[in-house]
Amino acid sequence: MVTKIERLGVVGGGQMGGGIAEVSARAGIDVIVCEVSTEAARVGRARLWKSLNRGVEKGKLTEAERDEAQSRLHFTTTVTDLDDRDMVIEAIAEDEGLKLKLFAELDKVVSDPEAILASNTSSIPIAKLAGATKRPERVIGVHFFNPVPVLNLVELVPSLLTAEDTVARATAFAGDQLGKETIRAKDRSGFIVNALLVPYLLSAIRMLEGGFATAEDIDKGMVLGCAHPMGPLRLSDLVGLDTLKAIADSLYAEYAEPTYAAPPLLQRMLDAGLKGKKTGKGFYTYGS
Ligand code: 3HC
Repeated sequence: MVTKIERLGVVGGGQMGGGIAEVSARAGIDVIVCEVSTEAARVGRARLWKSLNRGVEKGKLTEAERDEAQSRLHFTTTVTDLDDRDMVIEAIAEDEGLKLKLFAELDKVVSDPEAILASNTSSIPIAKLAGATKRPERVIGVHFFNPVPVLNLVELVPSLLTAEDTVARATAFAGDQLGKETIRAKDRSGFIVNALLVPYLLSAIRMLEGGFATAEDIDKGMVLGCAHPMGPLRLSDLVGLDTLKAIADSLYAEYAEPTYAAPPLLQRMLDAGLKGKKTGKGFYTYGS
């Protein structure tokens, strides 16, 4: 019998962290979202409230369920507020240095030695994050997909040092408590999904860069030709071009294969401040 997660901490209230907090609160779990500033917390909270309200408008949850979910969602800017959590999921920017610092801090702050310290990283080896703590057996990758309320998958990534009971508890959290399907991946950069997805997205950017076709036609080709819900360039915008570049860099650092090398156009777009949907402009332009 695994012990349920009752008190969850989520560090980072952006698209991924906010989505994880939302589905967890809707599943009856008490959630504290930790953000870097009161402004970031305000923005994260507003996005979450909007998403819950949209759920009511679409008839996916009742007003009472929304109110209950909201009452389970708390926001803070102080990591020490996460001291009583059963599990903390890190969902900050894909920056190894920042994540290592955070895991060292969480290790000191979270008082229950059985508590799980999880990462939603897309590509950074879990063993490295575990190495920043004194409880590597409680550290695991729990990787969600964007948009979290819609996509029904969680990748579980134990490192060489993760205990089996940690894997079992994280699997039960994602599967039984949140109702997601789970898959288990080895601790290799990109795990299963991004190791396959990212070379595809980078190939589409190279195709555009090489002048093979327009962005619209590349995307239309994959939507209509392969029945993908969105084309690779629009999906790159959704993932975030900064995140995509960070994942590609991690994959390239791990495998040193050209298929993972970020094309110059991706870097130039980032130099120009074009990060995709979240900044209103990437391969496409988005309304507010
Ligand atoms: N929150 C909650 N619900 C949402 C949502 C959100 N953020 N975005 C969309 N939805 C719901 C809508 O309410 C709608 O529900 P309904 O069918 O019951 O009315 C349904 O999803 C479809 O949405 P829309 O009609 O607005 O738009 P689309 O049909 O174009 O779907 C999409 C949008 C769900 C984003 C779909 O295009 C899709 O699944 N795209 C692929 C996304 C994908 O591949 N994600 C993985 C990225 S990789 C990743 O996350 C890993 C990371 O490490 C990089």
